[in-house]
Amino acid sequence: MATDIHELLNSLTLKEKIGQLQQLPPFLYIADLKNEVYGTVRDLGITEEDVFLSGSVLGIRNASEMIDVQKAYLKRSRHQIPLVIMADIIHGYETIFPIPLAMAASFDPEVARKAARIAAIEAQTAGIHVSFAPMADVSRDPRWGRVMEGSGEDVCLAKAFAKATVEGFQHDGIEKIGNMASCVKHFAGYGKVQAGRDYHAVEMSMNEWYNTYLPPYEAALKAGARLVMAAFNTFNGVPASISPFLMRETLRDRLLFDGVTITDYDSLQQVIAHGAAYDQRDAARLGMTAGIDIEMGSATYVKYLESLITEGVIDESLLDQAVLRILELKRDLGLFENPFKGADLDAEKALVRSEAHLQAAEKLAETASVLLRNDNHALPFMTHDTVALIGPYARSRSTNGGWSWHGDIEHNETLEEALIRHKATISLVSDADNKEALSDHDKTMIKAADVVVLAIGEHWRDSGEARSKSMIALDEGQIELVRFAKTVSKRVVVVLYGGRPLVLDDIVLADAVLMTWFLGSRASSVIARTLLGNISPSGKLPMTFPKNNGQIPIHYDHLNTGRPNLRDGNPYVTQYIDVQNEPLYPFGYGLTYADIVIKDLQVDREIMAKGDVLHIDLTLQNNSDVTSEDVVQIYVRDVVSLPVRPVKEMKAFKRVKLSGHQSVVVGFDLGPEAFSYVAENGHVILDSGLFEIHAGMDSQKTIKRLIEMR
Ligand code: GLC
Repeated sequence: MATDIHELLNSLTLKEKIGQLQQLPPFLYIADLKNEVYGTVRDLGITEEDVFLSGSVLGIRNASEMIDVQKAYLKRSRHQIPLVIMADIIHGYETIFPIPLAMAASFDPEVARKAARIAAIEAQTAGIHVSFAPMADVSRDPRWGRVMEGSGEDVCLAKAFAKATVEGFQHDGIEKIGNMASCVKHFAGYGKVQAGRDYHAVEMSMNEWYNTYLPPYEAALKAGARLVMAAFNTFNGVPASISPFLMRETLRDRLLFDGVTITDYDSLQQVIAHGAAYDQRDAARLGMTAGIDIEMGSATYVKYLESLITEGVIDESLLDQAVLRILELKRDLGLFENPFKGADLDAEKALVRSEAHLQAAEKLAETASVLLRNDNHALPFMTHDTVALIGPYARSRSTNGGWSWHGDIEHNETLEEALIRHKATISLVSDADNKEALSDHDKTMIKAADVVVLAIGEHWRDSGEARSKSMIALDEGQIELVRFAKTVSKRVVVVLYGGRPLVLDDIVLADAVLMTWFLGSRASSVIARTLLGNISPSGKLPMTFPKNNGQIPIHYDHLNTGRPNLRDGNPYVTQYIDVQNEPLYPFGYGLTYADIVIKDLQVDREIMAKGDVLHIDLTLQNNSDVTSEDVVQIYVRDVVSLPVRPVKEMKAFKRVKLSGHQSVVVGFDLGPEAFSYVAENGHVILDSGLFEIHAGMDSQKTIKRLIEMR
């Protein structure tokens, strides 16, 4: 019989209600709390009673720990409301998939959906009920370390991946074992931190908010995400965790979200440091007023809400609304019927890191690498080619990337092992990450090899939370390695690892550059198979690669300005005097081993009425013998508008597979939403007048058609 959560709410004491808003780490329930009284419990200023009144847990190690925690909690609980277990299951649980930015590079939302689905199946065996994913923060600034957790610079791509990730986690209902509730984050605008510096301020025009940064969160909510996590940053001067504009006007009133809101770690207490509150009592008041339900990592609610309510500062109805939303989530997760939902030691053994899941991780990683250069078909090489494999990633297992706590890299293959397993002929392996570390013997072998593979890039810890960088360049030693190899070798291939776009500098001297991000548990096998031609790379850049740090922030959907640079010699145009405006590699760019081009672009009408659907047909032609997938992209420009609109905005994309010399017709339908934008007052606008329709294999080289909207 379904629990009547209103009856349950009415049966709770004020302290019990407030307890439901608190989220704590799991060890507090099973450790010797007398020890913890001098640790986390004391730091939070809470009591043992508070610990056993709390409503949710952040993180859990496995099924056994979850069962112990839940049992210990319920044993001391008067109301018998189970704990809900939440965790960061970002791109896999123990089977690790490519980092989210790499999944976005596949331009295939099914990759994210399938990855989230498997991640949920595995994490659920540990009794985890909520995943703090997707991160739907659009970002145009690769200095920000957390770009690795998102889907890049483009709103269309970010919407598609946010939706797919939520649907992957929640699947056919969060009440079912193997499915999890999704918590979209970080609300809002976290990807726009000033200067790419983590936790910094965010200033957001309503034009940017409605047209670029809000839509991916909205897409996650439309897909049914049950929770929203507040961001650390201020949003136009107001810390997001206490922003009525974000948490009430936008979430509740505009988006009609009726799920649970949760702070980020300690972000409610941080409003004091922000300068928005004098003390924790004030923070608690502001959080409850703004509509934050669960407090993670700090305990201002547990310590001050009771007095705020009894003194009439906060109306108890606000607390009741928050508690009801939490009880509704627990009910819908089926926790009242089964407080241990999902926790299953046998399932854990059978499903976690199963061969089927690892094979899926390999399959899903195949389309995420981005081939940036491939001069003279340097790639793929043959198994009989002698390979000198050099660099810090030659023998590394660290291919999981950040936010992969449960993934044990010791299970991962190294690139050397994978190349050998796939029958490559390795003549030399060296971990050298600079030229000086090469012995004379190494140099001799490098000269003699048919191909030098430099496995280099960022350390995996250089991206993720609190990992912003002022210079996104590679170590000089690694660049020197490329320069040296280029002077002595017939063929230089760079396999690049990283959690963000990178300034490549002389890396581009290499004959081939393959951006492999961090592809997860089966990264090395996918990379080896790509280098050997078993896979044709087909990923596309989800974020622009700048020529240098000075170009940042840089993104393809920029405004034209009044003095666009037409390269006609006029110096009084928008430009730098020391570097071109164009990036090194644009959004949507990526080569394959084939040669797939757009032969023709047809629109089914040149004059449209508002509300019409424009049908586009384009012919893709593979001018090579090689079968490959590629991604064709459709961009739209509203030529005359106020406020002015970007020179192009991606509105659709499709991943297509072509055999050698095959051509196919690919169709798209663009409805009114592809031509509309949101005005600063929040109203949707569809202009009359001219629109450009662009089709391209990247955002820079496109074929254009004009249509008129009447
Ligand atoms: C972190 C992150 C957030 C994560 C949370 C719980 O600080 O900002 O993305 O979900 O804390 O670990």
